[in-house]
Amino acid sequence: MSLEQSGTFALGSRTVKRLGYGAMQLAGPGVFGPPKDHAGALAVLREAIAAGVNHIDTSDFYGPYVTNRLIREALAPYPKDLVIVTKIGARRGEDASWLPAFSPAELTQAVHDNLRNLHLDVMDVVNLRIMFDTHGPAEGSIEAQLTALAELQRQGLVRHIGLSNVTPTQIAEGRRICDIVCVQNQYNLAHRDDDSLIDDLARDGIAYVPFFPLGGFSPLQSSTLSAVAQRLGATPMQVALAWLLQRSPNILLIPGTSSVAHLRQNLAVAELTLSADVLKELDTIGGAVSA
Ligand SMILES: NC(=O)c1ccc[n+]([C@@H]2O[C@H](COP(=O)([O-])OP(=O)(O)OC[C@H]3O[C@@H](n4cnc5c(N)ncnc54)[C@H](OP(=O)(O)O)[C@@H]3O)[C@@H](O)[C@H]2O)c1
Repeated sequence: MSLEQSGTFALGSRTVKRLGYGAMQLAGPGVFGPPKDHAGALAVLREAIAAGVNHIDTSDFYGPYVTNRLIREALAPYPKDLVIVTKIGARRGEDASWLPAFSPAELTQAVHDNLRNLHLDVMDVVNLRIMFDTHGPAEGSIEAQLTALAELQRQGLVRHIGLSNVTPTQIAEGRRICDIVCVQNQYNLAHRDDDSLIDDLARDGIAYVPFFPLGGFSPLQSSTLSAVAQRLGATPMQVALAWLLQRSPNILLIPGTSSVAHLRQNLAVAELTLSADVLKELDTIGGAVSA
């Protein structure tokens, strides 16, 4: 199997394969504390690299700090082509809650923390995770926060900047402040709020990286998806990922898993092509039926 089959995309000066890996699931239950199986978590990361993955999505607020330290333990010194993308803007409470850490001082500290925990001199990509509403995009100016991150870029600590949990208005505001190479919002077969945003970003050469591509904490369940998967001899999760790959060429996948077996299934999607009829059938799941 070759991951190149699903193509590559440029994040500024770095090029990644469209099939990557999201590391959030490696922390303990509720993305808090150490993993249940430390050796198993290291094995997933090493298997991803062995299979050709060169794009890993992470954050210091997974654990907190757990996921980044696992990445460092499993993979440093890093392969030259590996692009590690982190995000800043939140912190964890002692009760595992997700809290904003969105002041310029906290954002600056977060970049330094990520560099130290990952043992890097410069982050390839840092996503500013907008925190006006933890659970979904909400309007509000991001000028102060993005200006602080752009200053760290000028200092050489950050190569490229992305935005997460963001509205089209905020993306437009952000692009007046600095180059934006990627947008990371929730999107999958059943959650399609960003349909038109994805097409707009594709026209501008900006990557769209859906989080929860498999539905996140409650993985996708749909009788249509199961029926299609059975017909194709694939799993429902594989069909959901293949649909995303075919949805738009600027979509990069970062499915999360703590299991080597699931990782292999997810990466095998590089070889799964869905016909136009199947795509049309799958489109009914999100209610976006084209005539
Ligand atoms: N920017 C943001 O606000 C934000 C928010 C959330 C996530 N993220 C990023 O997005 C990445 C992906 O999101 P996610 O991991 O939360 O959700 P996801 O990729 O939609 O799904 C992960 C869930 O699917 C299961 N799974 C994975 N592969 C499977 C397979 N082949 N068969 C059956 N089940 C499978 C996983 O369980 P197993 O461990 O058992 O495989 C896990 O429960 C994260 O790792 C993180 O980097 C970003």
